[in-house]
Amino acid sequence: MGNNEDENTIERFLSGSSVFKNEHTLDLKYVPPKLPRRREELARLTRDFRPLINKEKSYSINLAIIGPAGVGKTATTKFFCTRFVEAAQKRDVEIIYTYYNCYTFRTISAILRNLLTKYFGITSRGFSNYELLGMLTLRLKREKKHLLIVLDEANIIGAEDILSIIHAPEIHGFGEARISTIIISRPTEFQSLLNAPLSGHINDKIQMNGYSYEDLKEILEYRVELAFKTSAISEEIVDMVAEIASQTQNARHGIEILYHAGKIADREGKEEVTSEMIRVAKGEVYPELRPDILNDLKLHELLTALAIAKRLKHSGITATTINESYDYYGIACDEYGIPANAKPTFRRHIDVLTRMGIIGKSVLPLRRGRRGRRGRITLYDIPAVILEERTRKLIERQLKSSNNNNKNN
Ligand SMILES: Nc1ncnc2c1ncn2[C@@H]1O[C@H](COP(=O)(O)OP(=O)(O)O)[C@@H](O)[C@H]1O
Ligand SMILES: [Mg+2]
Repeated sequence: MGNNEDENTIERFLSGSSVFKNEHTLDLKYVPPKLPRRREELARLTRDFRPLINKEKSYSINLAIIGPAGVGKTATTKFFCTRFVEAAQKRDVEIIYTYYNCYTFRTISAILRNLLTKYFGITSRGFSNYELLGMLTLRLKREKKHLLIVLDEANIIGAEDILSIIHAPEIHGFGEARISTIIISRPTEFQSLLNAPLSGHINDKIQMNGYSYEDLKEILEYRVELAFKTSAISEEIVDMVAEIASQTQNARHGIEILYHAGKIADREGKEEVTSEMIRVAKGEVYPELRPDILNDLKLHELLTALAIAKRLKHSGITATTINESYDYYGIACDEYGIPANAKPTFRRHIDVLTRMGIIGKSVLPLRRGRRGRRGRITLYDIPAVILEERTRKLIERQLKSSNNNNKNN
């Protein structure tokens, strides 16, 4: 035993060294203990929420955080909320803080049901949103608690649903406001939210802008310190990555490149990340296509994205139509032995992908002499081959895990 080649390989890689000290700190969901360059935003959030602690009577605060991808909207909000809740508790104010990414929880009733189960042990199928909100406010009042709901990527659920939560105190509040919200959205999507009466109920709008080269240098230096062993990444390498990420002003872009480069170093058994590794990693990372977005897609949405990628990867083709992509969707389903959904459902998948910014949909007039309009589907800055590769990986992962679940049942 122990002399066989394969076992040696495993031993070698287990005892082999790594450039990482704490690899998990590069996870997308990880929130670091410091947020350089966001102190002002943290101060503003605190000022906005201070009345919640000082006021004798309960009080409701509703904020919007707006900014492009990768500027720390999610990280700053989570950072603030956890600490604010602790600070409140020290002052005998009990706040339940709860975070929802609306890509995962796509309706207000899904969110309300989850809230009631998670915090009050109430299972609540078959109630209307109105009734769910009533139960929630009653519970909060009875237990003398405040609820702080963060709705990330809030454009997915839309202004009316958000308003129903904000209005809850007026309708169900029994004279007390016990629910506050932080609504996070990217700027273009936020426009559609703002058209609604919602904006009149927002106490403060915090705009977070893209990071400059100097910002990114400081942020990435700090993240390197958390994740990598000393001397695994030189200052020049950090500069190089900050330079690349400054083109998108996106911290996630920089962090992803560092992570990929570290993986390459480990694979090659090197103790230091080189500029060549950064160049390779840069090619693997597409900040426009946020990996966390794809992770939240459901199986048939992934198949729809795959179908569009399959169609658009042929050279010279820049756009497709609903009908054409539906054909490709059928082929993709066949390939994995999954029954295809009917066209109306397929259209809903297309709508989801559009709202998420994975695909673009526009309506063009029909060719001359014909009446009506036809929809045109394009991919944003993502190369079709990359989208194909990533969706396939996720489809396979979902199929595998559902197979495993079946086996275990
Ligand atoms: N000021 C900062 N300091 C340290 N890390 C940051 C900072 N801003 C963003 N990040 C990191 O960059 C990545 C993207 O931030 P995120 O909050 O997800 O952006 P957004 O929600 O605006 O798209 C996350 O890994 C986050 O931890
Ligand atoms: Mg975010």
